[in-house]
Amino acid sequence: MSDGGHVWWEDAVVYEVYPRSFADADGDGVGDLPGLRSRLGYLADLGVDAVWLTPFYPSPLADGGYDVSDYRAVDPLLGTMADFDGLVKDAAAYRIRVIVDLVPNHCSSAHPLFRAALAAAPGSPERARFIFRDGRGPGLPPNNWVSQFGGSAWTRVTEADGEPGQWHLHLFDTSQPDWNWRNPDVPALFEDVIRFWLDRGVAGLRVDVAHGLFKDPDLPDIVERRPLSAPSPYRHRPELKALYRSWRAILDSYPDEGFPGPRTAIGEVWYDVPGTLRPYLATGGLPQVFNFQLILAGWQTAAFREAIDSALALTGGSRAPWVLGNHDVARPASRYRLDEGFTPQTVAELIALGDRNAEVGARRARAAALILLALPGSAYIYQGEELGLPEVTDIPDDARRDPAFRRTNAEHPGRDGCRVPLPWARTGTGFGFSLTQDGGRPAEPWLPQPPDWGRHSVDSQLADEHSFLGLYRTALRLRRVHPALGRGTLRWLDREDSSLLCFAREPGFILAANLGTAPAPLPAHREVLLASGPVTGGGLPPDTAAWLSA
Ligand code: GLC
Repeated sequence: MSDGGHVWWEDAVVYEVYPRSFADADGDGVGDLPGLRSRLGYLADLGVDAVWLTPFYPSPLADGGYDVSDYRAVDPLLGTMADFDGLVKDAAAYRIRVIVDLVPNHCSSAHPLFRAALAAAPGSPERARFIFRDGRGPGLPPNNWVSQFGGSAWTRVTEADGEPGQWHLHLFDTSQPDWNWRNPDVPALFEDVIRFWLDRGVAGLRVDVAHGLFKDPDLPDIVERRPLSAPSPYRHRPELKALYRSWRAILDSYPDEGFPGPRTAIGEVWYDVPGTLRPYLATGGLPQVFNFQLILAGWQTAAFREAIDSALALTGGSRAPWVLGNHDVARPASRYRLDEGFTPQTVAELIALGDRNAEVGARRARAAALILLALPGSAYIYQGEELGLPEVTDIPDDARRDPAFRRTNAEHPGRDGCRVPLPWARTGTGFGFSLTQDGGRPAEPWLPQPPDWGRHSVDSQLADEHSFLGLYRTALRLRRVHPALGRGTLRWLDREDSSLLCFAREPGFILAANLGTAPAPLPAHREVLLASGPVTGGGLPPDTAAWLSA
């Protein structure tokens, strides 16, 4: 099952792949599964244990693939099922496990079951799989819930007689109808989907909007703006507990010997206090949930320390992996240009900042990477973080794809800036993102890349051990061999200089990170194993982290 009673996911480093932006093998400007397959060697050299693929299923792409029209297929733009099977097989040869996304809160309005619901009459069994209601007055939706992407959470449908009729609920885009989890067809469908992917050899599932799914059957109005952590008519419902226990039973029923070992499921639970995660971590529930505290923490020692302490108190880090970024939030190399943690306003603030502070952001992101990878437990890295990619803030309005941009009438710039296709080469169309079979010129990438993207490319960093990529590769190599790293505990080393974040891990490891503005003396140590920037006799410069042997 594992080494010494431990399972692989407890300290795995998992690399998040946004397939449309990772690598394109057929030159159409959209990343695909063969592209990812051809770059597995890069991921093996980087040193990750698993990849998590965001949705690659057939989708009209109203929400970057999180609007799924078929849960058991590969979008033809991204490849075939044979490509997926080949990917899992090749990844296994590199000892890389594959985790796929499960999107159970909603589907796409192009899903055949939703089309059937639209074609059927109010009150029909087809409609009962979704949340259809009559309005509460002329032209008025059933309640006051708002979509996560802006506007009402209800859209009115046209009935068979051509007249406006019932409304359907969508917590996200209007084309993402919410499933009715109280209808037995829905859990049955998802059990099949879970088994379908586990049968194909995936090591786990990332559960989208895991705090959603069930809604209060009375669909009451929201009377006040609640924190994300508070139970609400559509968040953190008690019914989730039994559901996740049933999924856990399925996961545990899969063979746990050899590769890929015990299967995991990791829930996306957005919250603003870590206690919110507690019910999800109950015994027998989801094996893991994301811990977004480091995304929410600003660049201050106290904020980092609190983020780390609160998550450790909850789980010890193995069941709530650490994350600095993902496909929904502004990239760390840009986010740390501000001193505050991430909020939905961050992208707008970065746009307003123009070119200022770029160096500071990059330095801090390098230091944050060493903090992340020194923490006890598992960590997730979002593609491009290892290249230090900045958030792209100047995407023209007409090239933006995120529904958050459209539905807020451009008030929210959206999440496209962290989804720009990766630069693999210094020059050329798409900076090596797209290859063509005949060596011809590929199409332009589906989201425009900045003109200087090539300087962040894999090719321009590979040979330089001081590059971002060099830092990540060295850190991951050390993490694999150092007995103190991975699962375990940490002990804070109290410092009078409060700008120094400093902890020890046994045996013989110290992390020191300077989140202040003046150089700080290093704690007593034998050797500097790795540092995110130059360390001189004068101590640890601001915005720098070091791994030390004690
Ligand atoms: C999750 C995904 C996000 C998507 C949303 C709706 O938060 O990470 O990208 O827009 O769910 O599916």
